[in-house]
Amino acid sequence: MAAATTLHHRRRSILQLALLLLAASPAAMLATGGACESEEFPAGRSYATCADLPTLGASLHWTYDAAASSLSLAFAAKPPGAIGAGWVAWGVNPTGDGMKGAQTLLAFKSSGAYVVNTYNLTGYRPLSAASTPITFEATELAADEGAHGKVRLYGTLQLPKGMEAVNHIWQVGSTVANGVPAKHAFAQENLEAKGSLVLTGAGATEAAPAPVFISHDYLD
Ligand SMILES: *[C@@H]1O[C@H](CO)[C@@H](O)[C@H](O)[C@H]1NC(C)=O
Repeated sequence: MAAATTLHHRRRSILQLALLLLAASPAAMLATGGACESEEFPAGRSYATCADLPTLGASLHWTYDAAASSLSLAFAAKPPGAIGAGWVAWGVNPTGDGMKGAQTLLAFKSSGAYVVNTYNLTGYRPLSAASTPITFEATELAADEGAHGKVRLYGTLQLPKGMEAVNHIWQVGSTVANGVPAKHAFAQENLEAKGSLVLTGAGATEAAPAPVFISHDYLD
């Protein structure tokens, strides 16, 4: 399930560790030297927790303010193909565990600068060049390029009160054509790019159950 996932906490108390040990499956326990911890963000961007996601070499970094139910996040992944030509996306699915219904942030380079669009993924159809409205208020959207061709997508989502575990999806694509992110590859690691995430960090990300219609489960 979560064998490839590790969680890293900046500040770790004995209590938190004990809770984590209780909550996590044996395969998802803290590991040292996780890749996500070495991600270097620009000044002013820091996150309480990071997780190496199980596929696509992606990582999620976040701070969840439970009182405000506000999620500040950075998603980092390397799109396949030429640097600057592809896209990265991360989203929360409040109604299911796959792509359909996901409320997604997607970053790509447009006229030399990174932009972040929002997409309400309503079905298996091509994306538009423009954002579509999503359920959650999304602010502070930005993206930049990290080391080794990684694209980092930043944003803050206003989640419903008490939504402390979410189903999330992530994805990368090699191409943006005429301002429209083109569909991603259909390799196993693309199709398995989804899971559940405990925002409070007490526990690890877990892979979601396999989708029923896996051959249609793409983001295009
Ligand atoms: C997203 O799409 C679904 C399906 O068309 C729709 O019911 C929902 O209202 C949309 N959400 C937003 C925020 O527009």
